[in-house]
Amino acid sequence: MSISNRRQFLAGTSALAGLSFLSLAGCGKTTDSIRVGFMLPYTGTYAKLGMAIENGFKLALRELGDNPFGKSIEFFTVDDESNPSKATDNANKIMTRDNVDVVIGTVHSGVAMGMIKVAQETGSLVIIPNAGANAATGTMCAPNVFRTSFSNWQPTHPLGRIMVEDGHKKSVFITWKYGAGEEALASFREGFEAAGGEVIKELFVPFPNVEFQAILTEVAALKPDAVACFFAGGGAVKFVKDYAAAGLKSSIPLYGSGFLTEGVLDAQGDAAEGITTTLHYADGLQNPKNLAFREAYRLAYSEEADVYAVQGYDAGLLLIKALQETSGDLSKKAQAINAMEGAKIDSPRGPWTMSRAHNPIQNFYTVKVNNGVNSVVGTAWEGLEDPAVGCDL
Ligand code: BEZ
Repeated sequence: MSISNRRQFLAGTSALAGLSFLSLAGCGKTTDSIRVGFMLPYTGTYAKLGMAIENGFKLALRELGDNPFGKSIEFFTVDDESNPSKATDNANKIMTRDNVDVVIGTVHSGVAMGMIKVAQETGSLVIIPNAGANAATGTMCAPNVFRTSFSNWQPTHPLGRIMVEDGHKKSVFITWKYGAGEEALASFREGFEAAGGEVIKELFVPFPNVEFQAILTEVAALKPDAVACFFAGGGAVKFVKDYAAAGLKSSIPLYGSGFLTEGVLDAQGDAAEGITTTLHYADGLQNPKNLAFREAYRLAYSEEADVYAVQGYDAGLLLIKALQETSGDLSKKAQAINAMEGAKIDSPRGPWTMSRAHNPIQNFYTVKVNNGVNSVVGTAWEGLEDPAVGCDL
């Protein structure tokens, strides 16, 4: 953080700290607990993502043992429903009413934008465990906002080059029409065109619509060399199955950012075989940290971990750095922020560091679905850092 931004932020938060102290009188906040708020989707197409994030986060916190720093940990949740129109109210509920020490949220880029605006007003510490909105660590970056996932620019940045290397120069891009999809498309286009490819058509469906028939009929008529896309969660299951059912799978190879096949392979079945994606994680990563993490997650939740669980877990690891630095007292915001800025996270995805804009600098892998597993077939980009356009930290 630049010195002037740090000064401005701290001056602002000490005023806010005074306010929150006053407002605490009636709300029962005690200093013998660490108050963690989850603002995540627990219903709708991204419900499974929200749960995996919460599970991964709680798994990381187990590393602190019971009563870390002599305190208990209290959890507060709000279901944001992946609904941007409710984001301001939901963020106010968790930051002001529940008066948490840190918010872990959220998944949907549009909801994240509303949440960050509130965080800028309240000075609340926020760790984003998924939402990729570029602005979160770009034009709207803030001293108190950190991300443990990715910017939407990152996952599709290497994808176009990989498709051209596979011999596909004419592509259609399909996505839900909202921030995450549009930013994924813009980044894909940049990389694909730089490698000599051409996006012959962009096709959209409104979020969270899963009626793909008309679009797939258009793809068949356009006959591109390949299709690239952004879908995740329940929508990704439906899209991949519909693509195969439309008979396109064998004639027009399907690519995407790795969310297309993360955490959903069981539901997609054979329809997902052979799909190539780029992402900062894959189930099949063979490093010791990932193997141990996957085993611990399986034991704890009787489920397989996925990228969302990893991002939640890393949010927990990041918070642990802040807790260790402040002896469990997150009201020491400058110290907490310092610790998080300098963090080096030993993640199941491989080690990563925090960029100046508070976004992971991390490897991206080329991933192919092989026998029902997201298998790493190469490194698509080593140490990729988001350009953080417009961020002055
Ligand atoms: C987003 O809205 O930023 C997003 C949601 C799911 C997966 C990836 C990105």
